[in-house]
Amino acid sequence: MPNAYISGTGFFVPDNVVTNDDLRDVYGIETSDEWIRKRTGIAERRFAPQGMGTADMGAKAAEMAIEAAGIDKKDLGMIILATLSPDHVFPGSGVLVQRQLGMADTGNFVPCLDVRNQCSGFLYALGTAASMVQSGNTNHVLVIGSETHSHALDLSSRGRTVASLFGDGAGAVVVSATEEDRGLRNYTLGADGRFAETLWQPMWDIRNFPFLPQDEDGNGIVAPEMMWASMDGRQVFRNAVEKMITSLMKVCWEEKVDTKDIDLFLFHQANLRINEYVQKQLNIPDDKVFNNIMRYGNTTAGTIPILMAEAEREGILKPGMKVGLAAFGSGFTWGAALLDW
Ligand code: ACO
Repeated sequence: MPNAYISGTGFFVPDNVVTNDDLRDVYGIETSDEWIRKRTGIAERRFAPQGMGTADMGAKAAEMAIEAAGIDKKDLGMIILATLSPDHVFPGSGVLVQRQLGMADTGNFVPCLDVRNQCSGFLYALGTAASMVQSGNTNHVLVIGSETHSHALDLSSRGRTVASLFGDGAGAVVVSATEEDRGLRNYTLGADGRFAETLWQPMWDIRNFPFLPQDEDGNGIVAPEMMWASMDGRQVFRNAVEKMITSLMKVCWEEKVDTKDIDLFLFHQANLRINEYVQKQLNIPDDKVFNNIMRYGNTTAGTIPILMAEAEREGILKPGMKVGLAAFGSGFTWGAALLDW
C-alpha cells in the first residue's frame, strides 16, 4: 500500500483587508479593536469583492498547489472541496472548481466531492483523500478548503459576536501516493450531533412546506435568526479545547509519539485563545506553533491548508518535520492528524 503525503500546497486570500477598526468605522458595528484582539487575537481579516465566491478562491489556491506539487491537472484523480459556504445549495462547489480549472474541457472528468464539516472539514477531506490514494484508486487528489464568509455575515451590531470572527480565503493541497516512508501517519475524526444547533446557520427548514415562509406575492422570507449564523461561544470554546486535546493525544498514543517529538503544530484558527489553551495544556513551546488568525480571522475549512501553504513558503514547515494538526467546529465535528512532511 502506498503512503499518502502532501506534495504541494497553495492559498489565496482576497486583497481587501478589513481591520477591527474598519468593522466599527466602515460597517458601523459597535465594537473595538481592543475587544476583538483581547478575546480572539484577530487584528484583521480579508473580505472577498462582490462577484467572488468560494469556487473562485478555491480554484486560485488549487492552481498554486498543483504547480507546487509539480504535476499537471490531468494527473489529478479526484477533487475534494470542504466548505460551509458553498456557492449554491447545489451543485457543490467542487464541480465549479473543476470547471474553472478547465479539466472537463480536456476530457478529465474527475469525481468531485463536497465535504460539509465546517471548521474540521479540511481534516475530514484530508482523511478521505489519503484513503483514496492508499487504496490505489488514484495517485493524486486535490483537497481544498475555501470559504466566503463575508457575504453571509450580519455586519451590524446585532451580529457582532459572529461577524468579528470570520474572514474569507482558501487553501489547497495535493495529496499524492509515494513509496517513500513519509506522509499521513494517523488521523482521527469525531462528531457530536447533540450540539448541532450550538453553532449553526439554518437558512431554511426543509421539514416544512414551503421550506421558506412566503409573502402574499410568493417571495420567500428569511427571518434574521434563520439567515445569520448564531453561536453559543462559551460552549464552543469549552468543547473545542477538550476535543482538540483528546484527539491530538489519541493520534500520538496510537503512533507512540510524544507531543515533544512533534516539530510543528498547525491548529484550526478559530480563536487564538483556544489555541493558546491547547498549547498550554500540552506544554507546547511557542516556536512549535504557527498561527495566522491575527491576519485572516477564522477562514473555517481554509485555515489549516492556508497555514500549511504559508508555513512552507516562510520556511517554517520543511520536509522531514513531524506535524500535528487539530480542528474543532460546528456540528460539533472535530479531528486531529499526524504527518511526516
Ligand atoms: N465587540 C464588542 N462587544 C461584543 C462583541 C464585539 N465584537 N461581541 C460580543 N460582544 C459583547 C456581547 O454583546 C456581550 O455584551 P452584553 O454583556 O452587554 O450582552 C458581551 O460582549 C459578552 O458576550 P459573550 O458572547 O458572552 O462574549 P464572550 O466573552 O463569550 O466572548 C467569544 C465571545 C470571543 C466568541 C468567545 O465566546 C469565544 O471565543 N468562543 C469561542 C468560539 C469561537 O471561537 N468560535 C469561532 C467559530 S467556531 C470554530 O471555528 C470552532
